[in-house]
Amino acid sequence: MNIGIVGTGYVGLITGCILSNHHFVTCCDNNREKVDKLNNKEIPIYENNLDELFNKNFGKSLFFTDDIKELIEKNDVVFISVGTPPNEDGSADMKYVYEVARSIGQNINAYKVIVDKSTVPIGTAKIVKSIIEEEMLNRKVWFEFDVVSNPEFLREGNAVADMMNPDRIVIGSESKKAIGIMKDVYSFYDKVSMVITNTESAEMIKYASNAFLATKISYINELALLCEKVGANVIDVAKGMGMDKRIGNKFLNAGCGYGGSCFPKDTRALTEIAKKNDCELLTVNAAITANQNQRKKSVEKIINVIGDLKDKTIGVLGLSFKPETDDCRESPSLYIIKELIKCGAKIKVYDPEGMEEFKWRMADYLNDIHYCRCEYEALEECDFMIVLTEWKQFKDLNFAMIKDLLREPILFDLRNMFYNDVYIKNNFKYYGIGI
Ligand code: NAD
Ligand code: UGA
Repeated sequence: MNIGIVGTGYVGLITGCILSNHHFVTCCDNNREKVDKLNNKEIPIYENNLDELFNKNFGKSLFFTDDIKELIEKNDVVFISVGTPPNEDGSADMKYVYEVARSIGQNINAYKVIVDKSTVPIGTAKIVKSIIEEEMLNRKVWFEFDVVSNPEFLREGNAVADMMNPDRIVIGSESKKAIGIMKDVYSFYDKVSMVITNTESAEMIKYASNAFLATKISYINELALLCEKVGANVIDVAKGMGMDKRIGNKFLNAGCGYGGSCFPKDTRALTEIAKKNDCELLTVNAAITANQNQRKKSVEKIINVIGDLKDKTIGVLGLSFKPETDDCRESPSLYIIKELIKCGAKIKVYDPEGMEEFKWRMADYLNDIHYCRCEYEALEECDFMIVLTEWKQFKDLNFAMIKDLLREPILFDLRNMFYNDVYIKNNFKYYGIGI
């Protein structure tokens, strides 16, 4: 099949690379610089195993362009995978999706299936349909088309593996023809279950899943705070809870709060949708508040132990919102480091992939943060250290050496990644979350 993908971010690019194993795929972005990079075989994001897939298909079944007109004209199935960032009030900013819908209406030349892969408010498929129809009427032309909702569930850092082995494929459509075509697009997933439903339910499944996972994290984070007060250990509590198959052991790692471009944005967007429909999602609202509180409590924990932070130098490992990604959108590190600076601390940081993005997001704090070339440089002559992201490579650090580099061997492990480390237990003052 000939498939066009609009938007070459995390979702569009990875969808494109995977589909190009089975179809001819052209990916389009209106960011010319990004398209030029991709055409020079430079991948603009850091994502495990993506380069292998990209290099295998580039120029054979995977192409890049900034010409949306040609993309729409030449492809039978067009995916929309542009961003849906938050507005001031938390609702999703739909201008990019609507802009693509207008382009489709302005350039459609035959029957097409338009697939919405972006995370969008419930009812968007119908709005996209009406925008395309309106544009066709302006052109005084008419072509049949169908709009399908096909939300994406990949996680950054694990995106290729997630997309190769999804738990389910959700297809929302009222058209038998479009559902048949989508089944053909995904026919290579011979063992994956499909949920076929209407567009509204498909759109809701996406928000409902993200909000549920965010709520699960906030729940364990709040319990972690209580565990600290009553002498319980949240790691054992999560283990004991997770063994119950009805609960499951995933997304029960307590930490300094969830971040990223999705949970914070999608929980707020869902509560806004509820508000507009005269409903109140009390649980999701509570999960949002608890997440903000978790970041605040993480800073308080440090101040409670250290006292005045004025003139203290703090070594920070990890900036990205989770390991194995360069993405710092809504990362807890942004909030926590700003608060530490406000208390008068100087910060030294190291992150394997996230420093460039963190630096421009924290441009106002350039004089307060020293960006280092490795973990050891970041910890040298620091009063104590904090781990904010549990990068795999931090596991192999030489803590005997780190003990000598630090002024005092104090570790705030806000991801509980070193909880079981015997050397740290015996040689450091160790502070985790909920333990
Ligand atoms: P992103 O911001 O990384 O990428 C979006 C891309 O779309 C950008 O490259 C931008 O230049 C391009 N774009 C915007 N308007 C365009 C237009 N008119 N024509 C062509 N290109 C245009 O976004 P992302 O992280 O890939 O997310 C995309 C959507 O998928 C969002 O709705 C998000 O919530 C959802 N989602 C993201 C993830 C994730 O892990 N990042 C996972 C599942 C779902
Ligand atoms: C999340 C979902 O997991 C994906 O299914 C979804 O497709 C995606 O959002 C999206 O809609 O964009 P992602 O944000 O990439 O994926 O990363 P997660 O692994 O879900 O982690 C999100 C945040 O939760 C991170 O800050 C992570 O540190 C935190 N987290 C996760 C915890 O604090 N504890 C946990 O047990 C798990």
